[in-house]
Amino acid sequence: MQIGLDALALDTSRYVLNLRDLARARGVDPNKYCKGLGQELMSIPPPDEDVVTLGANAAWHALEALDWPAIELLIFATESAVDQSKAAAVYAHGLLDLPPDCLCLEVKQACSSGAGGLLLALDYVRAKPTAKALVIAADIARYGLRTPGEPTQGAGAAALVVSAQPRLVALDSRAGFHSECVMDFWRPNYRDEALVDGKYSLKVYLKAVQSAWQRYAARTGRGFEDHARFCYHLPFTRMAEKAHQQLLRETGHEGLSAAEVQRQIGGGLHYNPVIGNSYTASLFVALASLLEHEQAVSGERVGLFSYGSGCMAAFFSGVVQPGYQRYVQAQRHAALLESRQELTVSAYEAFYAAHLPVDGRTYHCPRHETGLFRLAGIEQHQRHYD
Ligand code: COA
Repeated sequence: MQIGLDALALDTSRYVLNLRDLARARGVDPNKYCKGLGQELMSIPPPDEDVVTLGANAAWHALEALDWPAIELLIFATESAVDQSKAAAVYAHGLLDLPPDCLCLEVKQACSSGAGGLLLALDYVRAKPTAKALVIAADIARYGLRTPGEPTQGAGAAALVVSAQPRLVALDSRAGFHSECVMDFWRPNYRDEALVDGKYSLKVYLKAVQSAWQRYAARTGRGFEDHARFCYHLPFTRMAEKAHQQLLRETGHEGLSAAEVQRQIGGGLHYNPVIGNSYTASLFVALASLLEHEQAVSGERVGLFSYGSGCMAAFFSGVVQPGYQRYVQAQRHAALLESRQELTVSAYEAFYAAHLPVDGRTYHCPRHETGLFRLAGIEQHQRHYD
């Protein structure tokens, strides 16, 4: 029995900052951001956008593509939660008007809970093949102004429908994991911005590639050659190169040509340079990029690596299904990215500085473009969505 992705839809904010403008404003050589990190643009959410609106927008398009299947399990993965108690899954369930007979949960482990949620959903559907599960991964990557992390912000969501008739990718839930309690990136409850030891984080990421791969290979009996393409979690686009070189060293393939490396990882790298980091959604943004830019990958096995600081990482894989080209949402995604409005650096800083009141007073958010759903405001400590 094959279980996997039946639909994959993305969303991002309708506003974007050009990293060349940010570099000039910060007195940095633009090549550092554009060539060194591999980033051109980053999506910036307006104050009436949050992970619920991003996630619900993506999910609406995933469900519409399948003519609104009954969803039994809704897992919302995020590290930008809007509430300490109520799951973003329940907010999204309400906005999408899903039936009440649905198990709704929010899951967290930095950037890797999207992959973790997907692996759980695969086993749920394997145990109950008539069921369909919806996994939403949505995040707003936010670092301090003028910190090294500032050019690696972004915002995005991926909605994945998991079923026993996967039209896009059949996935194997036998993953290799690497979990280890480290302090490379974290966000205490009282902070809006993450704290990060960036250089250390890169080191742990690369260690996790090696370790998760070893367990995956042992568990599945697969070798490097069994995989034609690779998608990685992308805090910034050049991370894919670093991660893939680590895997090549680990598997004794250091000698591969640049063209071959590009063939293996290039397909997954079209969206991240213009969206930026989307944390839990990042790996699936890369997978969508691969499926929507490569026309002939049917039957190929794709290696998928997710890293979440703190840390937990997973390596798993799937096989692209025949006819997948008919079901990707390439045109909608291209139109969404193309239509975004470019912000000046001061407009970006104004979005960044906007905060919702925390004293329970009524507040109506100023209206911006946010797609099908928006955060209308707060009343008596309750979030209200349109
Ligand atoms: N032209 C071209 N490239 C340049 C450059 C220039 N003028 N100046 C610097 N670079 C290159 C550097 O050589 C480096 O590339 P390399 O790693 O291949 O050598 C890259 O640009 C980044 O420069 P660096 O000095 O390492 O940047 P930084 O110290 O400001 O921080 C991060 C980079 C990624 C650590 C930082 O952005 C960060 O902390 N990000 C958030 C956390 C994160 O992304 N974690 C990753 C794991 S999830």
